[in-house]
Amino acid sequence: MKRVNWVDLSIAYEEEGDGYPLLLIHGYPLNRLIWQNQLEGLANSARVIAPDLRNHGDSIAGSGIGQGTYPHTMDLLAEDLARMLDTLEITQPVAVGGLSMGGYVAFAFYRSYPERVGGLILTATRASSDSAEAKSNRIIAVDLARTQGVGTIIDSMLPRLVSPYTISRKPELVQQIKKLMMSNSVDGVVGDLLGMMDRPDSTLLLPQIHVPVLILMGRDDQIIPITEAQEMNNAIPDSRLQVIPDAGHLPNMEQPEMYNQIVRTFIQTLDRGPI
Ligand code: MLT
Repeated sequence: MKRVNWVDLSIAYEEEGDGYPLLLIHGYPLNRLIWQNQLEGLANSARVIAPDLRNHGDSIAGSGIGQGTYPHTMDLLAEDLARMLDTLEITQPVAVGGLSMGGYVAFAFYRSYPERVGGLILTATRASSDSAEAKSNRIIAVDLARTQGVGTIIDSMLPRLVSPYTISRKPELVQQIKKLMMSNSVDGVVGDLLGMMDRPDSTLLLPQIHVPVLILMGRDDQIIPITEAQEMNNAIPDSRLQVIPDAGHLPNMEQPEMYNQIVRTFIQTLDRGPI
């Protein structure tokens, strides 16, 4: 694990490999460890960088703005990542990959820093903002996290996160994901929920994305319907959609070989310049 430090924030991250920079952004309520198979499997094709977002994993929000519970707005999380790239002196365009909430952050990053993005990899995510029902579910979850801790939320979410195939064939992976989720703090979970419920709708951004985009979905995703990915694919000028069988909301963990193969091919097209 490596770190970049500022007065108000310390971001922990993993880094492996050389070549085209690939920034991987985890979802909710997860951390950088979801990208272990990509750090190992893609290191021969890219410079893979996987940070913990603020208040996740080993990232520490320090004194002042970073402390306590506050919304992790998608813009704030994207700004943290831009600061990290600045500190690492990565000024050339990078491939930005985000899973679910990480995809919302990837949209925010593209909106704020389009010149820093050479390609987008949107996994198990959506462009739309929260519906009224989704917002009230977030408020219920905030209340649950504050009164009962993160365990209750995780117990209800975990069976919907992975595919039936993963549940029956890969029980050790399910336990690993549960452990990773349980390491989240109440502040981290609440900050994400408050940030996600206020995120802007990115639907109107889609036709204005002028870099190649790869959209990846698990066929059995129970959190985000594939129809939303198809709509994104129709609206983005240069995009392709790949659906991964026997995977749910975490296809990079559930089917890592297939996921890595698709991402590797995509990165190679970026490395060669515009297609
Ligand atoms: C995630 O996996 O990051 C979340 O499920 C996204 C969401 O709740 O909208």
